[in-house]
Formats: sequence, C-alpha cells, structure tokens
Amino acid sequence: MDKLLIEGGARLHGEVAISGAKNAALPILCAALLSAEPLTLTNVPALRDIATLLALLRQMGVKAEQSGDTVVLDASGLDNPVAPYEMVKTMRASILVLGPLVARCGEARVSLPGGCAIGARPVDQHIKGLHAMGAEVAVEHGYVRARTRRLKGARLFTDMVTVTGTENLMMAACLADGETVIENAAREPEVVDLANCLVAMGARISGAGTDVIRIQGVERLHGATHRVMPDRIETGTYLCAAAATGGEIRLTRTATSYVDSLVDKLLDAGCEITPERDAIHLKAPEQLTAVSIRTAPYPAFPTDMQAQFMAINCVARGAAVIRETIFENRFMHAVELQRLGADIKIDGNTAFVTGVPRLQGATVMATDLRASAGLVIAGLVAEGETLVDRIYHLDRGYEKLETKLAALGARVRRVS
Ligand code: UD1
Repeated sequence: MDKLLIEGGARLHGEVAISGAKNAALPILCAALLSAEPLTLTNVPALRDIATLLALLRQMGVKAEQSGDTVVLDASGLDNPVAPYEMVKTMRASILVLGPLVARCGEARVSLPGGCAIGARPVDQHIKGLHAMGAEVAVEHGYVRARTRRLKGARLFTDMVTVTGTENLMMAACLADGETVIENAAREPEVVDLANCLVAMGARISGAGTDVIRIQGVERLHGATHRVMPDRIETGTYLCAAAATGGEIRLTRTATSYVDSLVDKLLDAGCEITPERDAIHLKAPEQLTAVSIRTAPYPAFPTDMQAQFMAINCVARGAAVIRETIFENRFMHAVELQRLGADIKIDGNTAFVTGVPRLQGATVMATDLRASAGLVIAGLVAEGETLVDRIYHLDRGYEKLETKLAALGARVRRVS
C-alpha cells in the first residue's frame, strides 16, 4: 500500500494549475446516461473516483473514451441499468446513476452505498424524491430498485440540504413529464455546473445556484460539449498548504469566486490574497492567527475544507473553535494530528484547537479523502519526517498531488 513521505519545513512557493472538480465531474459523467447522443467533457481530472465511475458506466453499456482530460461518453447502447455493490461500496457518489437511469430506462437497480468513515450518510432523500415523481421504489437485498413508465414532474422538498440528492433529482426531472420544483435545493457551484451541462444537452432548468430549482421536463436530451469547473476543494487545499508553511503561491485555472468563504477565513488568519483573472495569488504571514470556523452548506464554509483548516489552526497563534454541522463523525484526523503534537480537544461536533509553536513528524493514518489532505498539510509544517499511511484516499480526489506539491518546493515522495 502506498504511503506519502513528507519532510516538513519547506515553505511552498511557485505556481500550480488546479484540475477539474471531482464533485462536478462525477454527476456530469452520470448525465451522459440521460441521452443517446455523445457527451464530450473536458477538464476531467485523472482520479480514482473518476476511473471507478467510468468502469461502472461501461458495465451498463456506455462507451467511454478518455484522452488526456477529455472524456467522450456514448450511452446509445445503455442496456444494463444496474450498479452492483462491488462498485458502489468504494464510492458513495455512484448513487448519482439512480436518477438518470430511472428517467431514461424506466428502471434501475442500484446498490445502497452503505456506511462510510465520516458518518451514516443515508440516501432516503434521493428515494423520497423519485417516489414523489411517481416511481415505484423499494429497497430489497441491499439494492434500491426503482421502476416507472415515465417520471412525472412534482414538487420536491428535501429534509436537509443534500448535494448529490439535489443533483440526482435534477437529472431525473429533465426527462419527466411536466414541471418539477426542487425546494431546499443545494446551492453548491457543482450543482450549477451540472445544470449548465444539462442545459447544453437541451434540458430546461432555471434557478440552479438558488434553493429553488425548476425543471421543465423534455422528451429527450441531445449531445453536447462541456468543460468541467475548477476543483474548489483542491484550490482550497493548496491555499491552506501555502498558508500553513508561510509560503507564497499562485494557483492558475481557478478563481477566488469559488472559495469565498475560505478566502474570508484566510484573510482573518493574516494571509494576503489577490484575486486575478482565472488565478489566485496568496502570500502567508510569518505566523498565522487562529480562526474559528463552522461548516454548513454552500455558500458557508465547506465541510470538505474542515480538516485542512484544522491543520492550519494547529500551528497558528491563539485558539479556535471548529464546528462540524454536516457530518457526525468527521474529526478522525484530529487524533492523528495529536500524534504530530497538535493541541486539540473534541466535544461532540466541536473541536477546540490551540496553536502550538511546532508540530513534530510522525507516522499517521489517513482515514478519508479530506482528512488525508489535512494530515499532508500538517506534515508539510512538522519538524522532521511524517509518513502518511493509506494514501489511496488521496488518490480518490487529488490529481498528481505529490507532483504538484513538489513543483511548489515541498519535499514529498510516494513510497510503497
Ligand atoms: C457531497 C460531496 C461531499 C461533501 C458533501 C457535503 C459529492 C460527490 N460529494 O456529498 O464531498 O462532503 O456533499 O458538502 O458531491 N443526507 C441524508 N439523507 C440523504 C442525503 C443526505 O440524511 O438522502 C445527509 C447526509 O448524511 C449528510 C447531509 O445530509 O449529513 C449532507 O449530505 P450530502 O449533501 O447528501 O452529501 P453528499 O451529496 O453525499
């Protein structure tokens, strides 16, 4: 199993290009299921989660050709609307095939994603929405089974803001008979990117980016070309890494508009941030100031940046409170950060972090994708060597992580 060996202490400096967004590319790849004509996507990141989803789509009868960051999908031969447990268990986002499959094929059998390290994460809202649109939905033998002649437009209300839930129902509604209104919809930029791609395919959607999305169903969608938006979590992770190490970096192919809530907190921490056209410049102070955060749905501070920001607070001056409101078990990195000498106390969904003058390198275990990124940032500032074990988590979501970090002057290497 691969590990990442980091020799801490180097200030990050230089320029790096941000990849396409994993969390936008995943639903957009599933959107190809809605049409019998080819969908061409550019700026698709080379990540394990993308490879997993492409394998899943291929076994359903979709042709998928990849060349560099371009993927051409052709779902004209879609003949097996099934997502087996073996594929879904490694990636919860596989549930995103459910809505498009029911809408296009009138049936689907998709494995329940099951538990995951950061919490229970049920899919009841996805099911509730499809049911309200007239599908017969049952959970049998660990699979969601849905069937209908044609989905019907409906007024949908989700009990909580759910990103993939909104995306699944928005995709399903594109081919439904009549108008669907999704209330309490997620406003994440990835939802907007998906809506833009669907509109390019002929869908009639308004309100994406607000909490009420309206979709007028159409008979069919056609082929299109779409460029996936920049990854705002990768963007944020490099900003935090540079801030923690007292560095100065320029990130290209991204923009501050995707990371407003984080930029706000990094400014409070003492960083200088200059927005440029399709780029961000960050200069960190000699010492950061601790800043409290509370995660919540977009446009508030993203839960996917919580671990990385905790790492920053570990070496900042002062103390900060971190509240996690999205997932119930998302502080597993805290115990690992303590192994590096961090001063963190956890009480339920709240972490109290007091900055220490220095962290010390140690062996730590990555527990999930973003937790791993927090540990890498801590390793970059720790004295001596930090070995991050189980970095397959990082390969799910960070394209060429060690190459990009090395280009910024970090001393990192992958070891087997
Ligand atoms: C997406 C992101 C993930 C991010 C998360 C929150 C993708 C592929 N993944 O995950 O990186 O951390 O948003 O920003 O885009 N919930 C239910 N029932 C449901 C659906 C959700 O109870 O049917 C709960 C979840 O357990 C969680 C909360 O709602 O507590 C939000 O989850 P959700 O927004 O659905 O997360 P994902 O879409 O899975």
